[in-house]
Amino acid sequence: MVFEGLIISNAGPEKKNFNRHSNDKKVYIETYGCQMNLSDTEIILSVLSEFGYNETTDVNESDVIFLNTCSVRENAEKKIYNRLKQLKSVKRGHPGRVVGVLGCMAERLKKDLIEKEKVVDLIVGPDEYRKLPHLIENLYETGEKGIAVKLSREETYDDIVPVRKEGVTAWISVMRGCDKFCTFCVVPFTRGRERSRKVQSIVNEAKSLFDEGIKEVTLLGQNVNSFNDEGSDFADLLKSVAVAVPGMRIRYATSHPYDCSHKLLDTMAEYDNICKYIHLPVQSGSERVLKLMNRLYSVKHYLEVLDYAKKIMPGVGLSTDIITGFPTETEDDHRMTLELMEKAGYDSAYTFAYSPRENTKSFRMEDDVPKDVKTRRLGEIIDLQRKVSSKINRSLVGSTKEILIEGRSKKSEDFLMGRTDCNKSVIIPAKNNKPGDFVKVRINKSNSATLFAEQEEI
Ligand code: SAH
Ligand code: SF4
Ligand code: F3S
Repeated sequence: MVFEGLIISNAGPEKKNFNRHSNDKKVYIETYGCQMNLSDTEIILSVLSEFGYNETTDVNESDVIFLNTCSVRENAEKKIYNRLKQLKSVKRGHPGRVVGVLGCMAERLKKDLIEKEKVVDLIVGPDEYRKLPHLIENLYETGEKGIAVKLSREETYDDIVPVRKEGVTAWISVMRGCDKFCTFCVVPFTRGRERSRKVQSIVNEAKSLFDEGIKEVTLLGQNVNSFNDEGSDFADLLKSVAVAVPGMRIRYATSHPYDCSHKLLDTMAEYDNICKYIHLPVQSGSERVLKLMNRLYSVKHYLEVLDYAKKIMPGVGLSTDIITGFPTETEDDHRMTLELMEKAGYDSAYTFAYSPRENTKSFRMEDDVPKDVKTRRLGEIIDLQRKVSSKINRSLVGSTKEILIEGRSKKSEDFLMGRTDCNKSVIIPAKNNKPGDFVKVRINKSNSATLFAEQEEI
């Protein structure tokens, strides 16, 4: 059902002339959730810029406030409810100020959200961003709150040139949606079916980014292994970009372990400008839990993929996602996750306590691991990862690496932060370097999250 322009109430902003070509309208966007959402925000800014909207970072001078939201865990949604409460006061005294909820939470909750949260004027899901200017226009003209949450089988925003933030790295969204239906995950419901962009259009985008001074791109999809453009798979795409823009560093996220092929890993190994880093979310080290999660691979298969990657790319950077406290998870299952982490030797891990999500399959299972047990298991996972990361990082002290400088270090103006192609953050004294420079460095210190280095004398 399409809710486009559905009248929920007439309590929206006061009528105001919407002039397509005036350049004085300001949009303020906060982005939550994954890189896909960050990339979507750039698409949203592009769609709106055609209609005279410029971005502002000051919420108090905005005409339109958008929250681009995430539904992946309950906490992600709680954050948005809290933010909407605060926005009531930002809107008070400015009746013409529009508040819109975009992204995954808009898609999941649809009109319930607009009914529950009176401050919200617009609800727009991830496949309906082209409608944003018209929905705002309609809101100003008629006072009707607007909802557009139809999911599409075709929309990829292929023709839209994202409005990117200044910097030396960029995202390129190569596909949308997910058909994997892991039993815990809301994404297939909020993002709809898988669809891919055209290889040529992605290659062209990478080329023009390079011409604009971008030094590193990350190709994005929920499961890039499902990429398919008339028979070209993700490995073909990666190769095409690597060959077309040899000076560009290329990363990607995320690869699902079930269909992460040797062809993809071979392609990574073959091209110097494809970063030797792979984010391969395992979720659990227990065969039984993996089955319940519908992850489709066994622990054995997962470790074989890692072994092959390590064999053909020695020193390859590895990271993962882990969920702890999935329904029925026992101490034994938990121990198997810890064992797998030791075997895998991840450089880093994103770890989460299981959060039941409505409509997903596992929602029908009892969330039977008590909160304190989830917290304790999560703590053990985090502690182990810290130890493993510290050990790996310590082993790198004394080695030389090439890093791409991304910007200032967060802690000091006198230092810069860069990344190795294996995705390690490295801090160096600033000297004469600047963002965008590739610098050879010698690692002299480390902790679990960061390497510290000096520039190699040339
Ligand atoms: N497409 C990516 C993951 C997207 S969501 C993939 O398949 O790996 C990012 C991470 O959030 C997931 O890998 C998972 O670890 C976590 N996650 C997803 N749903 C969750 C839930 N219901 N509770 C806790 N963590 C969850
Ligand atoms: Fe969610 Fe699984 Fe799809 Fe990843 S692959 S987005 S975890 S359903
Ligand atoms: Fe969240 Fe949606 Fe990404 S649910 S993790 S913002 S795809």
